[in-house]
Amino acid sequence: MKATAIAHPNIALVKYWGKRHVDLNLPAAGSLSIALEGMSTRTTVEFASRFDQDMAFINDKIQTGPRLERLTRFVDRLRSLAQVDQRVHVRSVNDFPTAGGLASSASGCAALAAAGCAALGLEPTRDQLSVLARLGSASAARSVPGGYAEMLPGEQEDGTDSFAVPFASHSHWDLRCMIVLTTHGEKPLGSTEAMLRTADTSPYYDAWVQSVPRDIEVARQAILDRDLAALGEVAEHSCLKFHASAIAAKPGILYWNGLTVQLIHHVRRMRADGLPVFFTIDAGPHVKVFCEAPALAAVRAVIKSLPGVDEIIVARPGGGVVLVDEDTGRTRRAWIS
Ligand code: DP6
Repeated sequence: MKATAIAHPNIALVKYWGKRHVDLNLPAAGSLSIALEGMSTRTTVEFASRFDQDMAFINDKIQTGPRLERLTRFVDRLRSLAQVDQRVHVRSVNDFPTAGGLASSASGCAALAAAGCAALGLEPTRDQLSVLARLGSASAARSVPGGYAEMLPGEQEDGTDSFAVPFASHSHWDLRCMIVLTTHGEKPLGSTEAMLRTADTSPYYDAWVQSVPRDIEVARQAILDRDLAALGEVAEHSCLKFHASAIAAKPGILYWNGLTVQLIHHVRRMRADGLPVFFTIDAGPHVKVFCEAPALAAVRAVIKSLPGVDEIIVARPGGGVVLVDEDTGRTRRAWIS
């Protein structure tokens, strides 16, 4: 009763920010993302009758308190599906910094859902696995299919129609994502709490939610057309609208630092100078800069030269979650070809 899965984080180009149901983690609107190869989470899950308690290690650090409780709640759902009550041991390792806003919860929950199901002998379809990952963290649903994926908000009360579907494979378009770390400082306010506060107190929240479906249409078409200028326009707008709604919450939620703002200006300047490039920012101060592969060297050189920038992670579009053989490292099962 042991299995290992690997998943990539994903970055939303049309953001998810707000829930229609908190316990089931159902998003208030859809979202659209790219999974990132070059960054991954590897998670091993084992259930055994000799274990007397649930335990979890992330990057070799034992988890306690609310983080362990969240994980246990998630594993409880799997245990009840499989009608098993054995305790679990989870070991998860990220090959990228677990810095705030770097989407480690997305890859972590997707890998946990896949490995947990396999360890319990459950065989979910891709959509069912995406639903399960969503229960851990809604953005994790998008790491299940990987590639270019759209999250469906669904309409059912039980959330069975709220999962992510791929609309283009990772090889469809050779984009590059530069993740520019702007601080090694403290962890920002978690997205779950922040989006609830935005929904409860921001006068801009409803307008934000209503604007999402059209952005998804435009972004999906821009990706299918491989149109970077059109994608950049809608992605930056979605990012700024979501941050504006959070900034207008009470008290205001401001994830950016000075370098975040400088990077926004630099990306706009590069674009005005003819370099095709755009930015997006999640629930943290780091900036993700996108361009096509041929422009990578030029864009990277500009960003590296900025004072305060010392770490850039470069990633390309990646695939979906896979189960791997512990010993050989070979893929045992993929949910998408
Ligand atoms: C800003 O998926 O982390 O990254 O569902 O409460 O776990 P929960 O939230 P989470 O939120 C991600 C928010 C975001 C935007 C996005 O990835 O779409």
